[in-house]
Amino acid sequence: MALMQERPQDGTPPAQTAPAAPCLELDGLAKSFGRGRRQVRVLENVSLTVGQGEFVSLIGPSGSGKSTILHLIGGLLPPDAGAIRMEGREVTGRKGLISYMPQSAALFPWRTIEDNAVLAREVAGLPRAESLALAREWLAKVGLAGYERAYPHMLSGGMQQRAAFVRALLSPQEFLCLDEPFGALDALTRQDMQQWLLALWEANRRSVLFITHSIEEALLLSDRVYLLSGKPTRVLRELRVPFGRPRAEDVADDPRFLELKREIYEEMKREQARQETAAREAAPPAGRFGFRR
Ligand SMILES: Nc1ncnc2c1ncn2[C@@H]1O[C@H](COP(=O)(O)OP(=O)(O)OP(=O)(O)O)[C@@H](O)[C@H]1O
Ligand SMILES: [Mg+2]
Repeated sequence: MALMQERPQDGTPPAQTAPAAPCLELDGLAKSFGRGRRQVRVLENVSLTVGQGEFVSLIGPSGSGKSTILHLIGGLLPPDAGAIRMEGREVTGRKGLISYMPQSAALFPWRTIEDNAVLAREVAGLPRAESLALAREWLAKVGLAGYERAYPHMLSGGMQQRAAFVRALLSPQEFLCLDEPFGALDALTRQDMQQWLLALWEANRRSVLFITHSIEEALLLSDRVYLLSGKPTRVLRELRVPFGRPRAEDVADDPRFLELKREIYEEMKREQARQETAAREAAPPAGRFGFRR
């Protein structure tokens, strides 16, 4: 089975068809948590798209609401305003439409690794024997051969993350959301997994929304990158990554790669400085709440 699902080859489209709707469209999403003086405005006005078979990354400061965006897409939370569309249809608040790898591995502790890996396929009613065979094949590819019948607590954090990654890949939904999938891995394993994901995705494209803190990782893997501001969050900038596919292994040495990496880094530093200034200005004057003798 193709994990990165093949899109149907249905011949040349008629000359005058409208351009295909994006696989995913977020239109003016807003989200706050809490009420009154405790209210935190997290997302202000977030609009972005992921095209069919496109790999798109989100980079933003910690706490800017990246995971919240995935929770909204997955229907785990309702937005306060805005709409979510998949292939042109409004799906705001609907669950079960995406493959999702959460930031924490979130494996079910009472299920073995292979039973965790086949969970979404089980929910979708796919044949168990076939799902288990696939799970074993892919667990071996991510270095988890021999751990199929182990329980999550018997694995290290990085191993659990790899198992969660396989679970997301095996989910039958076409659209894949990955929340910092390589965050808990050591540098070498992370590099291996990036190359592996790149090859897998390029062989058989699936639409992906990928969250990362690594500018380099975003440039290596993506077709486009959105930079997010700090709270209340909006899209600061959208960048098209100018490197072809399949992406050369040494793309990170290309001077344009280094230039883009520097540009994004500087933009994020400027945003951090803006946030710090805003926080200072919002803080009460020194001494106002200080203790008096
Ligand atoms: N269910 C919730 N209830 C209250 N506040 C929440 C909830 N979920 C998220 N938040 C708040 O929303 C903000 C954004 O959180 P989120 O986890 O989306 O950030 P993030 O960009 O994914 O951060 P990181 O890069 O550290 O993973 C934070 O201030 C967080 O405390
Ligand atoms: Mg997060």
